[in-house]
Amino acid sequence: MNHEYGYFEEDQIGRIGDIKLWRNLLVFILPQWRWIALAVILALGITASTLLLPRLVQLGMDRYIIDSSLGTDERIEGLARLGGIFLAVVLAGFVVNFFQVMVLEWTGQRIMHALRQHLFQHILQLNLSFFHRHSVGRLVTRLTNDIQNMYEMFTSVIVTLFNDGVKLAGILGILFWMNWRLALILSLTFPIMLVITVYFGRLSRDAFRRIRTHLAGINAYIQEIVSGISVIQIFLREKDAHGQFRQLNDRYYQSALYQIRIFGIFIPLIEVMSSASLALIIWYGGGEILREHMTLGVLTAFISYMRLFFQPLRELSQKYSIVQSAMASAERIFHLLETREMLPVPPEPLSPARVNGHIAFEGVEFEYEAGRPVLKDLSFEVQPGETLAVVGATGSGKTTLINLLERLYDPLEGSIRLDGTDLRRLDLRWLRDQIGLVMQDVFIVPGSIRENILLDRHMPEEELDRIVRLSQLSELVKNLPRGLDTKIGEGAMDFSAGQKQLLAFARVLARNPRILVLDEATANVDTETEMLIEQAIQAAMANRTSIVIAHRLSTIRRAQRILVMDHGRIVEQGTHEDLMARGGLYSHLQSLQNGDGRGGGLRLAASDSGEETV
Ligand SMILES: Nc1ncnc2c1ncn2[C@@H]1O[C@H](COP(=O)(O)OP(=O)(O)O)[C@@H](O)[C@H]1O
Ligand SMILES: [Mg+2]
Repeated sequence: MNHEYGYFEEDQIGRIGDIKLWRNLLVFILPQWRWIALAVILALGITASTLLLPRLVQLGMDRYIIDSSLGTDERIEGLARLGGIFLAVVLAGFVVNFFQVMVLEWTGQRIMHALRQHLFQHILQLNLSFFHRHSVGRLVTRLTNDIQNMYEMFTSVIVTLFNDGVKLAGILGILFWMNWRLALILSLTFPIMLVITVYFGRLSRDAFRRIRTHLAGINAYIQEIVSGISVIQIFLREKDAHGQFRQLNDRYYQSALYQIRIFGIFIPLIEVMSSASLALIIWYGGGEILREHMTLGVLTAFISYMRLFFQPLRELSQKYSIVQSAMASAERIFHLLETREMLPVPPEPLSPARVNGHIAFEGVEFEYEAGRPVLKDLSFEVQPGETLAVVGATGSGKTTLINLLERLYDPLEGSIRLDGTDLRRLDLRWLRDQIGLVMQDVFIVPGSIRENILLDRHMPEEELDRIVRLSQLSELVKNLPRGLDTKIGEGAMDFSAGQKQLLAFARVLARNPRILVLDEATANVDTETEMLIEQAIQAAMANRTSIVIAHRLSTIRRAQRILVMDHGRIVEQGTHEDLMARGGLYSHLQSLQNGDGRGGGLRLAASDSGEETV
């Protein structure tokens, strides 16, 4: 099964006879079997009460209205008694019906709740490359619409189909029991009904598919237009867009009309069949009455049962399409659940108690897309406590290197070791807990500053104060009326890019990981916070193995060693002075940055303010 998760996926129609799909569904349905059994028993109760009513009418007619062997008072009294029973049955039917609906909806909700939970948990574990290929919108659809579709199928279709099935079987049984000859004659119409229903079922599936396809087309077009609206307006393409939309809209309209036509024929046709059956009953049944083989009451009951019989058939073809769309949803959901794009988990994951922070890359090769290598034969080491800077042009593979260190991906070739142990043998959560990562974009969780620093960790207040001080947030916090408990993003309180960086450093200090990674953390910072950040970096780097990807010369210079990357390879390494003296790519990058008329090489020499970029 290869799904192209395009917009047109919504036009897929599931196969009702897909056994594997039903087996998958059963896993979620079976735990609820007690409730489903209860619903089935209640369904039998509902059917019994529905089928009892015409029978009561028959008794009333035959025993008390037509039969004149009893006295008038007795007959009226008997009718009153039957009327009472009738009312009681109706009420009982109502109560049972109420409970059945409640039980079913409740069960349906529980099944979908479990499925949604399962699916979400599954998605959380998938590896990053999966998310590069699947859009957010589609994943959201899986968790919301698709599950809703299945819920609808469960409550409105499977259930009514079951109820109707029981009802139809019950009616047939009663009809044969009351008068088998008449029932047999009626049965002659069944094959015709069957052919009609199957034929129209096909047509309606076809119509349904067309409607879905055209609707998906409209959706895709709207999306395309809205996201490019400025281009449309600037280039005065409104009229064009309008025309194209009209075409799509017309097609959708035509397919809706087609469906209406189909139902416009099908429903009256069922009506005709129902009336024709009625004619059969009156013709043959009337004769049976005259031949005194049957009573008038039985004929009346027959007619009532006939009406009950045709009612579910009328709704059948509509339900058919609900089932199909639900099966398509189920197929997509289970397809997603079957996706096993996860990093291999070691049989016995290690989580060493002590970490020195020695990092080694050995002959690492990596590619995001097959045939387009991003890292090539990359080897380097970082000693415990050392600070390593990585520089290189955009796209040279710096962030990729960090992604591999965090084990968001595994290398294609070679290995990455922490204190001599291959990352693939370590516990993933443990590994990520050892690395404090500060990126350009800082993820703020909704909540107070305190919550944002601690992220569910607990620590004594003095310790937190120390961290706030070290990360240079004290000034900021002091001026807030509610201090650390101020909610970020509320009212006047919003963090600037630089302040967010400080917050990120506070987080690192609070977690106290052995390894610190800065990925262009200081790229877009206002000059006011710059100094503060310098100090926060210093605090964060102390006693840690640090890998710093930076633009700022001041940050780079603090590193004991600098790696220069170019197209996924290390082309140079050494200290700032070494590399400058060498006159290679590093010094070239420097002069490029500085030769743009902002002050030339002079600034490089005098740059402790951190303005320079590499
Ligand atoms: N998720 C991805 N899928 C495919 N290619 C990617 C992905 N992320 C990065 N790349 C490619 O990998 C190369 C290195 O990217 P990156 O490591 O982000 O570079 P840097 O951080 O040095 O700017 C670039 O050519 C980039 O286009
Ligand atoms: Mg990058």
